Amino acid sequence: MDSSSLPILQPYVDRLQAQMLDDLCTTMPHLTELYQYYVRLHSKRLRPVLILLMAHATNGLGSAWSTKEHPQGTDEDDTCCIDHCGLANVILPGQLKLAEVIEMIHVASLMHDDVIDESPLRRGAPSAPARFGNRESILGGDFLLGRAVMLSASLGDLEVMSEVAGVLSTLVEGELLQAQKGVKSTGDVGTSDWDAYLDKTYMKTASLFARALRCTVILGGATKSDPLREIATEFGSQLGMAFQIIDDILDFTGGDAMGKPVGADVELGLATAPILFALEEDDKMQPLIDRRFRDPGDVQQAIQIVKDTNALARSRTLASVYAQKAYDALGSLPASPAKTVLQCLAMGVITRDH
Ligand code: FPP
Ligand code: MG
Ligand code: MG
Repeated sequence: MDSSSLPILQPYVDRLQAQMLDDLCTTMPHLTELYQYYVRLHSKRLRPVLILLMAHATNGLGSAWSTKEHPQGTDEDDTCCIDHCGLANVILPGQLKLAEVIEMIHVASLMHDDVIDESPLRRGAPSAPARFGNRESILGGDFLLGRAVMLSASLGDLEVMSEVAGVLSTLVEGELLQAQKGVKSTGDVGTSDWDAYLDKTYMKTASLFARALRCTVILGGATKSDPLREIATEFGSQLGMAFQIIDDILDFTGGDAMGKPVGADVELGLATAPILFALEEDDKMQPLIDRRFRDPGDVQQAIQIVKDTNALARSRTLASVYAQKAYDALGSLPASPAKTVLQCLAMGVITRDH
């Protein structure tokens, strides 16, 4: 699920990393140490990889493609045009910048998230707040956001800027919705529990995938009425949903591979898909949810109920439905190696273990 599983994209990912460090450059050594801690060590680069692949799969198809600058003509270095294993296409410099912007936003959200979640670990190493403190982690994230917005302005596309600004507020809304509604249940589990869960899952995770891929095709010349916009948005949205539901399953099964303790979401009081499915099968989950798994032994009991019911299998099936929708969303795109890789990634989300 990361760039290492797609060696073909490695030159782009390396270049993205170098550009990102360049664009984040500051004269303050402490700030440099802060943001580099996550930028260098902690990201899977999934979102940039998706952007690069979507660009490969769609560039040339957008209705305004011919009016876009030709990438080889605009870029000083032809590493922006690869032709390995049949993946012959071009990525526009603006799309590579977009990948940077989206990655900066993602990393910033993790620096804030680890404060909110009081996470001691991220990917097996001390989290930014554990290592530098909450204030530093928040300010490091804010710095990344500032640079991301600057960079998005440099793309010179007001619609893309508006999408980027919009996604920042949606991420915050999702995080707040999770804090308010994540464990609200009283009485039978109803559609509102699921609605709240699915809404916040879209907002805190899938919205970034959806808008990032929409911006990719906008920069590739998809005009307002171009079906490419809907295709890219739908793919990102469905894939993002599948990705987060699997993340929620891995909270129960992940262990060492996740680099964080099992049950971290339950500790936070969150009623994710496995908890909601378990509740449908076992009433004993209800009081645990109602008191936010706060009493001694609640977290362990909730994990046990999830494991004793079909909750994990049903959650996986739910994630598969979203992954399949992501796969299908690309159906009308012409066959290409990049399309195939995107579809494989969508289905591969289901089996990821970290
Ligand atoms: C990780 O989820 C966190 C997110 C997907 C989004 C976090 C969003 C915010 C903190 C709002 C502020 C946004 C910005 C851009 C600063 P998780 O906690 O379920 O996953 P984890 O296991 O990776 O911690
Ligand atoms: Mg977290
Ligand atoms: Mg969180």
